[in-house]
Parts: sequence; structure tokens; C-alpha cells
Amino acid sequence: MNLRTRYLGLDLRNPLIAGAGPLNGQLDNIRRLEDLGAGAIVLPSIFEEQIEHEQGMIDQLSTIGIDSYGEALTYFPAQTTYALDPEPYLGLLRQAATAVDIPIIASLNGFTNQGWVQYAWQMEQAGASAIELNIYFIPSDLSLSGRDVEQRYIDIVKAVKGVVTCPVAVKIGPYFSAVGHMAQQLVHAGADGLVLFNRFYEPDIDLARLQLVSDLELSRPYEIRLPLLWIGVLSGRVKASLAASTGVDSVDEVLKYLLAGADVVMTTSSLLRHGIGHIKELLDGLRTWLDARNLESLASIRGRMSHLNVEDPTAFNRANYIKTVHDYRAVSAPNPAESNGRR
Ligand SMILES: Cc1cc2nc3c(=O)[nH]c(=O)nc-3n(C[C@H](O)[C@H](O)[C@H](O)COP(=O)(O)O)c2cc1C
Repeated sequence: MNLRTRYLGLDLRNPLIAGAGPLNGQLDNIRRLEDLGAGAIVLPSIFEEQIEHEQGMIDQLSTIGIDSYGEALTYFPAQTTYALDPEPYLGLLRQAATAVDIPIIASLNGFTNQGWVQYAWQMEQAGASAIELNIYFIPSDLSLSGRDVEQRYIDIVKAVKGVVTCPVAVKIGPYFSAVGHMAQQLVHAGADGLVLFNRFYEPDIDLARLQLVSDLELSRPYEIRLPLLWIGVLSGRVKASLAASTGVDSVDEVLKYLLAGADVVMTTSSLLRHGIGHIKELLDGLRTWLDARNLESLASIRGRMSHLNVEDPTAFNRANYIKTVHDYRAVSAPNPAESNGRR
């Protein structure tokens, strides 16, 4: 059975990628993931703040109202020591790229187009097959317009593309007023692929201590719906690879993402929840599902349920929304005659 896929111009033996997360920060795990069948591995991120080494920069930015706490600060305690120092990160990257044959994708996580983007070049030199650029910030400055925010993403992509020759995938969140147009702009700016979506970590409030809490919950399968929608809408309509990220726990989510049109499917939470060996279960599940339907290759299912390919693409838009809302009421509203009778 042929599970090969292309992602960012790279030839992958299968579409399952171990997504950015702490497990991929250890060389032993990287070797094991290759043995277990992973198609590629994304290293955990190195953060702009780590590279800049200037606490002052964060202070300065907070005065203009951009909070970049999100993944960046939340992850620091969970990372191993390499995460706080860019040099060891490059060391890990060099070792990983030599130790395994599958592509190692380095992850760069930031929110400005300043000097730190030069680090992308060092990542490429250290052996990264590609760079995943995770752009993460909360535009809490109320004077920032949607256009300003979009321009910032575009400037960062251009800055990174300006220093590397390897492919660059851009990992974004879903909070744009026009995700499709934004996706196109990123591709025009040079993105070779889009990772949909980044998971934003919103703070909660601890009612006993009256404190903000930033904890991290692993994703659940119901969360695939939003990335599934946008992968379905974008598949075949943007000139870039599409990676699905968020909510994979079983092979069902993997299949749904592929049917919607993803070129690859990433998983982080499922490996943290079930252990690294889970990647093999996902892969076996994919083979079994295709086998049971006498399908010889991934190509036979990829994008079959995308906006371009479904018979009725209204399933992706407002018409379906109205129908869904109405149908739900029809099914769940109590029959007036019955409820009158009961009273
Ligand atoms: C503990 C943990 C650490 C993570 N670290 C990173 C990271 O360093 N860089 C990054 O881009 N995403 C990071 N992520 C986000 C994941 O790569 C992924 O985008 C998100 O968890 C949704 O995918 P999932 O449902 O497969 O977990 C992390 C997620 C978790 C749970």
C-alpha cells in the first residue's frame, strides 16, 4: 500500500507527523518515532524571546499592548533545558537530522520580524529539512486593526523566507476575519505550507485565589471541526501544502483530515496522552481502513470530501448552517401537544 505523500515539496513515507511538542525534544524519542513509522517530526519551538535574550523587549512590547504569553511562556517550564538556549537547540537539530532519515522540521515561534528571524538560517544550516514558523500573539492593543495584524504575519513570513532556501510552513490560528484570504496572502508572501491550526491557550480565572490561570489541556477529537472546515475549504484552492493540526486522538480524525484534503496530519496531544507508540496505532489504523476498502493509496481518499470535490459544497457555508440550526430545533423541541398534556 502506498501511503507516500508530499509535504512542503518533501517526499514523506506517510502523512503522520509527530507535531511540535516536548516529546520531540529528546533524541531517543526522535529515533523511536522514526522506528514506529512517523512520516516526519517537528521539533518543539525555539521562541523569539529565547533568541533575543532580552527581557526588556518583552517589557517594551507589553507597554504597547501585545501579549505574547500564549504558547511561549506557558511552555517554558515544561521544556527541557535546551529550550532556554538557542545553541543547544541547534545541537539537537544537528543530531536529529543525522540520526534519522525522515525529515526533521525545526520550529520557530515568534511575533515580530526583527533580528531573531536570522535564526531560521542557522536552523537550515544545522540540517532542518523545513521550518515551521509558528506566529503567535494576541492583538490585545485595541488600536491594532485586522489589517495591521495580517500585515505583521506577512512581514514575518517574508523576513524568514528572505534568509532561508528550505521550505517554510506557517502555523496560524483560526482568528482572522477571512481565513481563506489570509491563507492566500501568506502563500503570496512565500509560505510553502500552512499548518491549521495553532491552538491558543486562553487564560482561566481561579475563583478561590482570584488569579489568572494559564494551564494547558490536551486537545480532544471534537476540536477537529474548525481545522477540518478550513482544510476542506482551502484544499486544492491554495498553492501550498496543508497540514492538519489539533484534535487527533484516533485514526478517525486522521482519516477525516485526509478526506478533507490535508497533505499531512500532525499529532501532539495523542502522543502525550497515550505514549509515543500511539503513532504506530494511528498508522496501522490508516492501513487497515484503506485495506478494508481495497484502496491502494492515500491519493484515492485525499480531498475526496473537500469543498472542491463534494457534491454539495453548501455543507461548508451558511445554507448548511441555517439548515443545521432548524433541524436541531425540529428534533429537540418538545411536542407542544405532549407537553400540554403533561402539565
Ligand atoms: C505540551 C505541549 C507543548 C507544545 N509545544 C509546542 C511548541 O513548542 N511549538 C509549537 O508550535 N506548538 C507546540 N504545541 C502545540 C502543538 O504542536 C499543537 O499545535 C497543538 O497541541 C494542537 O495539536 P494536538 O491536538 O495534536 O495536540 C504544544 C502542545 C502541547 C500540548
